[in-house]
Amino acid sequence: MKFRFSGYLIVMLLIFVALAGCSFQTPAKQDSRSHSLSQPLHKTQSKKVTVPTVSSMNRKSIHTVANPDSTLVLVNKFFKLPDHYVPRHLVTADVRFIDGGKSEKDKMQRVAASALKRMFDAAKKDHVPLAGVSAYRSFKMQTRLFDYYSDIDGKKQALKYSALPGTSEHETGLAIDVSGISGAYAASTAFNTTPEARWLARHARDFGFIVRYPEGKEQVTGYEYEAWHIRYVGVKAARTIAGRGMTLEEYLGKVPVKNNYQWLTLIV
Ligand code: DAL
Ligand code: ZN
Repeated sequence: MKFRFSGYLIVMLLIFVALAGCSFQTPAKQDSRSHSLSQPLHKTQSKKVTVPTVSSMNRKSIHTVANPDSTLVLVNKFFKLPDHYVPRHLVTADVRFIDGGKSEKDKMQRVAASALKRMFDAAKKDHVPLAGVSAYRSFKMQTRLFDYYSDIDGKKQALKYSALPGTSEHETGLAIDVSGISGAYAASTAFNTTPEARWLARHARDFGFIVRYPEGKEQVTGYEYEAWHIRYVGVKAARTIAGRGMTLEEYLGKVPVKNNYQWLTLIV
């Protein structure tokens, strides 16, 4: 009888331990409100976060950047350029464009345009000739483009690959979409597996460019993988960012705006 009673106790104890063990294995809920962008994102990237969706986005949470003219300016779903912003020193990039003609979208800030030319020359020497597709876009042009994509794909889908006006890097004059000279896969997911995409992933950093929306970083950038969208940040930053497999968000670590915590609460 004594043995049966202690046996019963042992069984109960084992059940209790098993249940306690289960509760430890259940992932604790993230308290994103305790997070601040003053903490470097790369230290938190192991946390489970999801890509921002339309329903989790809120126009009021978009802050205006204080450094629009910096080559390190962070423009994304949560940080926009000032209203009526036009980049300084816009020049026509002296490289091949797939449409051949000179227009607004062939322009970049001078520093980025010079680096782009050096990069295209190097790619050509490596037998991977590149062409520009779309560089600078005014707010008006980004509005037209975003509205177009929203019309054909729906706003929710469009937001995965097209930026709301005011929040596109193309409006900084530091970003450009690039393709091979045939233009066959220009700005489409088919470009992601081309030799041109591989060349950019490997060499763009040496000319100061980063692939801005890398594969596997959708939860940080809020955009689908775009092997063709490169952004000028300067050689030092580009080598660090690409070398460490980071995004610009992660490299900058903190962002000089108030209510920073909202950024993470919106995407968790
Ligand atoms: N495709 C990028 C996100 C843009 O529209 O700026
Ligand atoms: Zn782009």
